[in-house]
This record gives sequence, C-alpha cells and structure tokens, in this order.
Amino acid sequence: MPDDSRPEKTPPPNEKPQDEAPRALSRRNLIKGVIAAGAVSSSAYLFRSTLVHADQPAAGSVERLVTLNVNGQMRRVDVMKQETLATTLRYKLGLTGTKLGCDRSECGACTVLIDDVPHYSCSILTHTARGRQITTIEGLASADGKLHPVQQGVIDEQGFQCAFCMSGFIMATVGYLKVNPNPTRAELAHGISGNLCRCQDYDKILTAMMKGAENLRKVT
Ligand code: FES
Ligand code: FES
Repeated sequence: MPDDSRPEKTPPPNEKPQDEAPRALSRRNLIKGVIAAGAVSSSAYLFRSTLVHADQPAAGSVERLVTLNVNGQMRRVDVMKQETLATTLRYKLGLTGTKLGCDRSECGACTVLIDDVPHYSCSILTHTARGRQITTIEGLASADGKLHPVQQGVIDEQGFQCAFCMSGFIMATVGYLKVNPNPTRAELAHGISGNLCRCQDYDKILTAMMKGAENLRKVT
C-alpha cells in the first residue's frame, strides 16, 4: 500500500529533478568527447606528426587518423571516410606531383603505385590503402637525388610539352616495366594506354618511355 501520510516534496526552484541528472551528465561527456576528438585530429593534420597518441578514438568520435605507407615513410594523417587517395596525397601530405585531371578515372594523371601496381588515386578511397605500399612520383628518385631511369628517359628524349600528364605516364610506365621489363613499342603503348595527354604528344612520350625502359634495363 502506498504511504499517503508523507507530504509530497516539492523541489526548490532551479533544482533539476533527480532523474534528469544522469542524462545531463552523459550529454556533457559526449560533447567533451567530440571536442577531444576534434582537437586530436586537428593537431595531427597541422603538425603531421607520427607522435600523436591517438590510437584509441575518443568516445563518441569516428576514427579518422590513419597511418599510410607513402614512399617508404609511415605518415599519420587525418582522413575523411569519403576521401580519395589523390586528395590525401596532394592536400594533406603535400605530395603535389600526383596530378588531378578528370578526377573520375579517365585520364591517368593521378596514377600512383599501390603494391607496385598502377592505380588511379582519384578513384581509390584512402582508407582502403592502409597497410599497402604507396609510391608517388616523389618516391622514385633515390635518396641522393638521382632520378629513376624512367625519369631520366624523359630528360634524355625531351619528352612532353606542358608535362601535366607526365607524372602519371611515368608511374604507369614504372608499374608496367615491373611485369614486362623489355617491351616492344607497341606493347608499352598498350601497357600505358590508360593515360591521356591533352597536348596529344603521344609519339614523343612513347619514345621517352622506351628510353626509360632501356635505362632501367642497364641498371637492373
Ligand atoms: S585524375 Fe584520376 S584518372 Fe584523371
Ligand atoms: S604534355 Fe601536356 S598534357 Fe601531356
């Protein structure tokens, strides 16, 4: 039986009912978690550091800090779920040698190697490249600055006009030569046919890439 003899307690003005206290606390914690996650993400982007201790995402946050193996270096970077590898490389990691032409898998200007295979980086989600070896045009030259043999081929033959497409062609060629190091001109043309040149300088480009293949065979 309920005890009706006790007088009903009226909470004083400004005092929250007790059953609302846990909800207020939990909202406060959630907001604090979101702020903490944002602070960690921002600092990692600004300082591009591998020393940020953020292996565990903060409560209420989505994991955005990922580690990528780019040109042999482990790079910690703040990445959105829908972000493409080309965007990450160019605008987060400062590797602007990778060009963006069509941004929809048509021109090949954005070609990079992933585990030694050419890929259009404009059409790869950065998250899917975790744990794989990414090589950009910046990673081809040796540590002492000596150009890759295919890069040297461009200089030897004075290939390209405006050269906007150049890094994509070079990356595609380097990737193709890994599976066919001694191609005929027709084979190499077919092997790098996923790359376009708006200056229409294909014959000269192919000559430069063939020279690059020849240079590579001399050193391997
Ligand atoms: S920019 Fe990626 S294929 Fe054109
Ligand atoms: S040389 Fe200009 S786009 Fe190829």
